[in-house]
Amino acid sequence: MNPPREEVGEFTKLLNGFMTLMRRFIFKVLCVGPIPNHISFIMDGNRRFAKKHNLQGLDAGHRAGFVSVTYVLQYCQEIGVPYVTLYAFGLDNFKREPQEVKCMMDLMLEKIELTIDQAISGNVKNVKVIFAGDLNLLNDRLKAAAQRLMEVTEENKGLVVVVIVAYSTSHEIVQAIKESCVRKCEGGDSPQVLKVSDVEECMYTSIVPDPALVIRTGGIDRLSNFMTWQTSRSLLHTTAALWPELGLWHLVWAILKFQRMQDYLQKKQKVD
Ligand code: IPE
Ligand code: MG
Repeated sequence: MNPPREEVGEFTKLLNGFMTLMRRFIFKVLCVGPIPNHISFIMDGNRRFAKKHNLQGLDAGHRAGFVSVTYVLQYCQEIGVPYVTLYAFGLDNFKREPQEVKCMMDLMLEKIELTIDQAISGNVKNVKVIFAGDLNLLNDRLKAAAQRLMEVTEENKGLVVVVIVAYSTSHEIVQAIKESCVRKCEGGDSPQVLKVSDVEECMYTSIVPDPALVIRTGGIDRLSNFMTWQTSRSLLHTTAALWPELGLWHLVWAILKFQRMQDYLQKKQKVD
């Protein structure tokens, strides 16, 4: 005989409460050590997840991936990480089948619009969302929604989430050099006196400090043209877990590794 539905509901509530307590305790212990001030996530493995679980629909894996995004952001907020970047869509991803690209764009629009509604109704108080990348390559509706979400969360304090779309570091560097030359000329200087800092100021990602920790899911140890300029001193942590499988323990493990490597990372900050 199955237990009555109310009892199952009570049990789930109790279990959730217990898990939240456990998580808070784990984070308290974790926060005794240094916490990365900026974590970047290369979210890979959505389609493999869909295949593994026999999920139907071109966007099934990406939908599952979005659930991971919400959890990961909640954990980062609870841990007190100030900046998070999410590699949501690379320039290379435009080369996928047009139907898949459309599905991914539609899903992004759906989630952005949902987040705008939540932000307007006051449910996204502690998160500021910024989109970075060549936003002109997005369709008009998506671009407008991204801009709207940036506006409605602009004043929010707390976690800064940078969603990286239509991006590659090579593209970012080229546009930054072009932009810094324009700024030099407008300021009456010659572009020949361009400094590294001039270019850095014009990067899409100049709004955030360089990542301290990069976490890549999906079992592949590469950066895929993601913030390669900004990650020369970052710790790279890869995990075989597919992005929708990324859980609390993967994140805790990556931060513990960051803490264990602190001496080395600090030395590198000074020497390079
Ligand atoms: C990552 O998952 C999705 C993006 C952020 C573009 P993939 O779509 O690359 O899934 P796999 O790696 O093929 O499984
Ligand atoms: Mg992939």
